Amino acid sequence: GTAARDGESRRSGPADSPFVRACRRESVPHTPVWFMRQAGRSLPEYREIRANVGMLDSCRRPDLVAEITLQPVRRHGVDAAILFSDIVVPVAAAGVDLDIVAGTGPVVAEPVRTVADVERVRRIDRADVSYVDEAVRLLVAELGDTPLIGFAGAPFTLASYLVEGGPSRTHARTKAMMYGQPDLWHALCARLAEVTLAFLRVQVDAGVSAVQLFDSWAGALSEADYRRFVLPHSTAVLSGLADAGVPRIHFGVGTAELLGAMGEAGADVVGVDWRTPLDVATRRIGPDRAVQGNLDPTVLFAPWPVIEAEVRRIVEQGRAAPGHVFNLGHGVLPETDPEVLTRVVALVHEVSARRDEQ
Ligand code: CP3
Repeated sequence: GTAARDGESRRSGPADSPFVRACRRESVPHTPVWFMRQAGRSLPEYREIRANVGMLDSCRRPDLVAEITLQPVRRHGVDAAILFSDIVVPVAAAGVDLDIVAGTGPVVAEPVRTVADVERVRRIDRADVSYVDEAVRLLVAELGDTPLIGFAGAPFTLASYLVEGGPSRTHARTKAMMYGQPDLWHALCARLAEVTLAFLRVQVDAGVSAVQLFDSWAGALSEADYRRFVLPHSTAVLSGLADAGVPRIHFGVGTAELLGAMGEAGADVVGVDWRTPLDVATRRIGPDRAVQGNLDPTVLFAPWPVIEAEVRRIVEQGRAAPGHVFNLGHGVLPETDPEVLTRVVALVHEVSARRDEQ
């Protein structure tokens, strides 16, 4: 074998991939890139597989989960896979009657209004989500050196679906509970934090290389309300994984004012949407965390020279951060041309490639 340089043994596998190294703020051969919602309706091969299978049913079939997760890895050459699932999968496993309606999102049959409703959200363990355990194991075996990202929804974003009964623009009922029945609110979020932590534990134990906590709608809150009503619960989830040995990514949309607090919740990487340049975000987050982002998903509909300029700008601004994972600022829109995504991956790799070691 080759002698190890400087006494450091040569590592390999997903734990030494550019994606995991960037999350850990280590040096990388190129900026790693993946896309939120990279698996999904932008891909014809996904639409074909899903033609006769409901969304939640597909999440409970390890063979389909593995195939759908692998599709964007094969097609785009992204630096990480993300488990195909949904943030409401563990909530359904906890006994909540819900469905994912195409074009709408999660819809809950009986929205949470009382303490009794909160108590009906059961704690979960591995047996309740054995299909996720199995899918992760299949994928880890299949993916080789490509890391697999596990994920879950954060308590606030999950609570919003449970309290509203479905998607909401204003989160009015959610905030009404937060302000008007703070004890009930904290009981609900504490239970959701337990469910989320258990769900992420199953994924970590099955072999994922990183986890992402999606608090997609946290940007609806002021920093003061976020710190009071949300941060303790997201901290319970992320700090609960401090010993897991995998990087933790914390993401939300419209969170410019919350970036510092979201980092404090116990994240190694903070996701940033397109509204905040990465150098500005880095000043707010501090030197101890990497950033992920932040191309506006609608820019993918622009002419290629516009996309190229935006990608170059983001790679440049990402150099201000102690670690940068390239991504969109939110998920891939279903109408996106997948060939553009493939080109973006190649461009990120090309413009960020280190030349000093050749
Ligand atoms: O990123 C990936 O490739 C992994 C798959 C993934 C899905 N949902 C699959 C999905 C992930 C990471 C999620 C997380 C999720 N789900 C979030 C957080 C991320 C974000 O987008 O902010 C949220 C808020 C949800 C709730 C949810 N589920 C919404 C808003 C929708 C879209 C509704 C629609 O039809 O437009 C879903 C359904 C969903 N989850 C789809 C997919 C691929 C579309 C279902 C379909 O193909 O018909």
